[in-house]
Amino acid sequence: MYYESLKSFPDDFLWGASTSAYQIEGAWDEDGKGPSVIDMAQHPEGVTDFKVASDHYHRYKEDVALLAEMGFKTYRFSIAWTRIYPKGTVEINPKGIEFYNNLIDELIAHDIEPLVTMYHFDLPYALQDKGGWSNRETIDAFANYAKTLYENFGDRVKYWLTINEQNMMILHGDAIGTLDSNLENPEKELYQQNHHMMLAQAKAMILCHQILDGAKIGPAPNISAVYPATSKPEDVLAANNFNAIRNWLYLDMACFGRYNSVAWSYFEEKGYVPEIQEGDMEILADATARPDFIAFNYYSTATVEASRGNDDAKNSTGDQQIVIGEQGVYKGHTNQYLEKTEFGWEVDPVGFRVTLREIYSRYNLPLIVTENGLGAFDKLEEGDVVNDDYRIEYLKKHIKQCQLAITDGVELFGYCPWSAIDLVSTHQGSSKRYGFIYVNREEFDLKDLRRIKKKSFYWYKDVIASNGAIIVEDKN
Ligand code: BG6
Repeated sequence: MYYESLKSFPDDFLWGASTSAYQIEGAWDEDGKGPSVIDMAQHPEGVTDFKVASDHYHRYKEDVALLAEMGFKTYRFSIAWTRIYPKGTVEINPKGIEFYNNLIDELIAHDIEPLVTMYHFDLPYALQDKGGWSNRETIDAFANYAKTLYENFGDRVKYWLTINEQNMMILHGDAIGTLDSNLENPEKELYQQNHHMMLAQAKAMILCHQILDGAKIGPAPNISAVYPATSKPEDVLAANNFNAIRNWLYLDMACFGRYNSVAWSYFEEKGYVPEIQEGDMEILADATARPDFIAFNYYSTATVEASRGNDDAKNSTGDQQIVIGEQGVYKGHTNQYLEKTEFGWEVDPVGFRVTLREIYSRYNLPLIVTENGLGAFDKLEEGDVVNDDYRIEYLKKHIKQCQLAITDGVELFGYCPWSAIDLVSTHQGSSKRYGFIYVNREEFDLKDLRRIKKKSFYWYKDVIASNGAIIVEDKN
């Protein structure tokens, strides 16, 4: 739809950006922190581990001051479960509570609303050792952890996110580094884990509504509109399949408290039906287990064609944004209309608007974007300059689509691109940078880790100061 004029961003729009604990904090074994699955994982050859990352644990004050300088209204970060409970449950680590108390206080002192993800890929290794999400005990460990977070930080944190990209952990856990390589029947086991995570999320939402007055909580999946490769009905059906498996399975459960029917038929066909114990569906359907909003991460759309069941659709699982396929269900297809990043991720700003519209019309809940951004090999030039015009272009185009979606009637209340500060990518190291702030380190040479404002830092500051107006006025 073409509009003569666009609606403005709401006055209280939450401009900010995101990070996650293990990708930014470092201090992986300091002050009583226990190991997580990420700390124990093998990292791809040639890329760094997460031991020091961006050293935010020691530099959080300086970092928050920089976010404040950009004018952030909110900051999305995750709490490392293993700082709070080094073994996942039972014994609390006071130093971990202290760190996040300090970080939250620092944000509030700078008028920045904390937006907290409880769990961003870093399951405590002690729980993994006992089967991780395959073990139902992890459900209650998560609920107990959530309760501890509410009790310690709920007086200051109003916005909570449960699990980051549960769908990517199920579909691309091997790339992200969360997949337990010992699983005998990985797909079946993964959907069992998925069921347990859904229960854990439902319990955390119920507790949030019980314990905290006025707090809001939502899920944080990675959602991409799925296009059919052509208008051939079989391709449209394949897109429908992938949409159900990639997107709606997760949001239907969170928002409606039931399994998506196409995803369920897929489980039946493939032998992936999870074991559901008595009482599980009641917890999932509980009226107080419903989210107050939906947070979602968006990088690109996905395009698929029909898979006839006799092709090589499934050789590997790709990564978060690279779709391979599954025999007889769908097959990844390169969208000829889209450009790709240096890392092979398709760039689709218009698809962002499509995705925003689809989520909103399906669930009718307020939305916040908790990730969106461009990973690139930034270059530090002489005089501490980083000319990341390509990032500005990417973000500008996506913010414009937010504005169009708002004009379409989508209730969007915040935008938090990935990432606030350079951090270590899930599987492509510290050279794949996303931040507004450059961190002076290389893959294996930690240098001085000093913070340098990129060109996008100054640009985003102007975007926020104008409440997005400079984007709308820009006719390019
Ligand atoms: C999302 C994750 O999948 O994408 C982040 O929530 C991640 O943790 C981001 O960093 C970008 O992906 P990558 O693989 O480039 O780090």
